Amino acid sequence: MNIWIALAYLLAAVLFILGLKQLSNPRGARRGNQTAAVGMVIALLATIPLLHFTTAGIVVTILGLAIGAPVGAISARRVHMTAMPQMVAAFNGVGGGAAALVAISELLHAGTHPAFQLAFPSIFSMVVGGISFAGSAIAFAKLQGMITGTPITYAGQQVVNGLLAIAIVSLAVANLTVASQPIFFVTLLALALVLGVAFVIPIGGADMPVVISLLNAFTGLAVAASGFVLNNFALIVAGTLVGASGTLLTTLMSQAMGRSLANVLFGAFGQIQVGAGGAAATAEGKSVRAGSPEDVGTMLAYARKVIIVPGYGLAVAQGQHALKELADELEKRGVEVEYAIHPVAGRMPGHMNVLLAEANVPYEQLKEMDEINGEFPSTDVALVVGANDVVNPAAHTTPGSPIYGMPILNVDQAKNIVFMKRSMRPGFAGIDNELLYDPKTIMLFGDAKDSLTKLVAAVKAA
Ligand code: TAP
Repeated sequence: MNIWIALAYLLAAVLFILGLKQLSNPRGARRGNQTAAVGMVIALLATIPLLHFTTAGIVVTILGLAIGAPVGAISARRVHMTAMPQMVAAFNGVGGGAAALVAISELLHAGTHPAFQLAFPSIFSMVVGGISFAGSAIAFAKLQGMITGTPITYAGQQVVNGLLAIAIVSLAVANLTVASQPIFFVTLLALALVLGVAFVIPIGGADMPVVISLLNAFTGLAVAASGFVLNNFALIVAGTLVGASGTLLTTLMSQAMGRSLANVLFGAFGQIQVGAGGAAATAEGKSVRAGSPEDVGTMLAYARKVIIVPGYGLAVAQGQHALKELADELEKRGVEVEYAIHPVAGRMPGHMNVLLAEANVPYEQLKEMDEINGEFPSTDVALVVGANDVVNPAAHTTPGSPIYGMPILNVDQAKNIVFMKRSMRPGFAGIDNELLYDPKTIMLFGDAKDSLTKLVAAVKAA
């Protein structure tokens, strides 16, 4: 490889790594994206001299760029924040599919007995890329509501999936050791696609962000293997980075949910049946204290310190701007306001950070769980806006609960707690939250955005 191309790839790799580093905190995230994008442009430009300049090659490259670039740019600009996981699934899936197609093309050209160093990464890339493509397509369809989000299960499912995996490994070994025939590797790709579907259908829709992150890691590995096939250093580096960061993110998300990765992948979690309206709990004779926006507004206006705990419901209601307005109003009155960010609040990594950044909430007010948990005892009001599981003390107190062991925000230690939600219904984990019945809790029922708007008026009037 030409020394300049090698140097350009090295520069691209350095920019990818710097970009990832900048992405690890909210302040640098935007710049991190730009840094990595510059790296990608450099890698693309460096690749052009390597292209075979046949007419077909040029036409395919131009068509690919002319279709892919606008589709990517327009859909990324238009996508709603709540639909981000399915967009990542779609982008991730096409990456895996592309890696599989490259592998097939190389195998078709390589004859019956290709060198092991070409055949092995090709087969690996085809199988892993195929699983990622099909799995991501199912994840996309679940999140987009095109198929049911509840786990699709049947007796002996894991055995069938295990047999599929064994068939894939056996066929791959046959392809590597006996002969590389199109009938073998096309069957192998078909089996990988079936396994991708079979692997994702038993997983509940709300666990999809974890699965997408895992499939993202798969795509990274498939792309890195393509790099070995094509002898392309940039693909090896980019693929390895995606594989490693996807694996780390998957592990961190499972930990933050207090569940093992095995439980996420094989536990069919979304099957838990939710009692309508939390009726069972109230029937047990526990009473709930409901307040009006005026009551809560007065309480907030005369507090010294308020910690806001945002959750999934804030994103659903799109109440972030009204929330910022409320915080501004409180600060004008001298109230200290901070935001407590749980790592899995919402439905995707960094969901609350992105949501609050949209409303220009200053980064320094966003406090991570470990940083803020010690502050709840000295907090006058913990204002829980559309969050539920991430503050549920059952995670500490109830062995056997689906969230037992999950680290939570210690809202129960605040002097007063306000829950803003529409009903007594539980959150994602489908379990009751004792804190809603706590004597120091006030429920402010209603859509979060509406209630926040009313609170702003109430604070102004207090
Ligand atoms: P949840 O526990 O899901 O609770 C959200 C609450 O928001 C619900 O109780 C709901 O109550 C309320 N809500 C919904 N729409 C609302 C609206 N328009 N206005 C006001 N309230 C509304 O959310 P959380 O506390 O953020 O916890 C996140 C959960 O998702 C965790 O269990 C976590 O493990 C899981 N999860 C997270 C991720 C990531 S990466 N973040 C990925 C997968 C799963 P009402 O229906 O009564 O309004």
